Amino acid sequence: MNSSLATVAYIGATILFILSLGGLSNQETARRGNLYGMIGMSLAVLATIFGPQVTAEGIPMIVGAMLVGAIIGLYAARKVQMTQMPELVALMHSMVGMAAALVGYATYVDPEASKNLDSAAHAIHAGEIYIGIFIGAVTFSGSVAAFGKLSGRIGGSPLLLPARHWLNLVGLIAVIYFGREFMNAHTVQDGMVPLIIMTIIALLFGIHMVMAIGGADMPVVVSMLNSYSGWAAAATGFMLSNDLLIVIGALVGSSGAILSYIMCNAMNRSFISVIAGGFGTTAAAPKPTGEAAEPQGEVSPILAAETAEMLRDAKNVIVVPGYGMAVAQAQHTVFEITKTLREKGVNVRFGIHPVAGRMPGHMNVLLAEAKVPYDIVFEMDELNDDFPDTDVAIVIGANDIVNPAAQDDPTSPIAGMPVLEVWKARTSIVMKRSMASGYAGVDNPLFYKENNRMLFGDAKKMLDEVLMALKA
Ligand code: TAP
Repeated sequence: MNSSLATVAYIGATILFILSLGGLSNQETARRGNLYGMIGMSLAVLATIFGPQVTAEGIPMIVGAMLVGAIIGLYAARKVQMTQMPELVALMHSMVGMAAALVGYATYVDPEASKNLDSAAHAIHAGEIYIGIFIGAVTFSGSVAAFGKLSGRIGGSPLLLPARHWLNLVGLIAVIYFGREFMNAHTVQDGMVPLIIMTIIALLFGIHMVMAIGGADMPVVVSMLNSYSGWAAAATGFMLSNDLLIVIGALVGSSGAILSYIMCNAMNRSFISVIAGGFGTTAAAPKPTGEAAEPQGEVSPILAAETAEMLRDAKNVIVVPGYGMAVAQAQHTVFEITKTLREKGVNVRFGIHPVAGRMPGHMNVLLAEAKVPYDIVFEMDELNDDFPDTDVAIVIGANDIVNPAAQDDPTSPIAGMPVLEVWKARTSIVMKRSMASGYAGVDNPLFYKENNRMLFGDAKKMLDEVLMALKA
């Protein structure tokens, strides 16, 4: 393939990726968005393999590597449970980071890569390598730490080293100093030492950054690493002089940054305070002392049959799904119940919190999989004012996102986080297995409210019973 044809293919792929992002912004067009993305990626890969930058001898190696990657990817995708998706995504981000760092080293030691460069171009090339390896290494180790936290292999509490901000500052100064040494090096051997030292600092920095972030801030970490992986890909594009990779990396990097901003808004947190770390765990936060922190009395349990009766008698119902619905894989039964109630004339809607579950859009994906119609699924802001006019708000395996302590108790670790105000409904029913706390590890005063009922048990099992009672 000659270079103009490859350029045309790259432009086509870029347009498809932009259309893909546009499609993914809405549930109804998300499938089309995915399709555009797949076609764009196939076009990009083919144009690269058969383009001018790859020689005929290189093709078998690339195809071999792709086959190995495809087998591992297919196996992981088939084996992964929906609840393990966030960890898988974190692991994928780490691969992007590792690739950027390795490409950086390969480019540095490749004499061909810097041949025929004048001194200015040489300096720019060296700068690209240094920054690319830095971003790649931070993304790699940060994502591995996030994988550990999301999969529960590492505890959720923030690691707060003494003088941690100073440690970060010293690290940054060291990175700048070794950057200067690297730029001044005359041979590859001379440049290798500062490069390796910088890589070690970057790896430690990535781990430290994620380890310092508390449990409740993890949604921001997931989207932030998403953004970093984009910038790492863009850096790889600069090192390989591949325009498509630069554009795609910038698209992923900026959309991840926008997502991080949205997540911060959803949790009423500033990005800087998230990065500074230490929020959102009982270990780090001052011990809750306010009224909402303490259990406020007895809970009122309810049976599945009574729940069915309440739902049948209701005019307006709001369903609030959370992480427990994903664990129980209860979305299909939720849909069956929704269908049955709608047939009986009940107005059923869904309220989705931006950080419900364990990854952005987690609940939307599950509900779409179960074929819940999109027009009854609403964002938190769209229906939070409607709870006072709601007969029954049914909470399925959610906890933190419906915790009134976020509003009532300034000492709560989740204080200030906007929540779905289910307690304003005539009756709220919380479906979970026990009185255990949610991801942020805080008690939930909702459970003790007078108008709240607890339906204890696995969400799938309980909903099956509710459905049976509804149909009886
Ligand atoms: P959580 O606060 O984690 O609460 C989930 C509840 O589900 C638990 O209290 C658990 O109680 C219940 N549960 C678990 N398995 C169940 C089952 N089989 N059947 C019924 N209930 C079950 O979830 P949430 O309300 O969705 O809030 C999300 C939390 O995760 C937030 O704190 C958020 O910051 C954090 N987070 C979010 C993300 C993203 S990007 N969305 C990423 C990382 C962290 P029992 O054990 O008593 O059943």
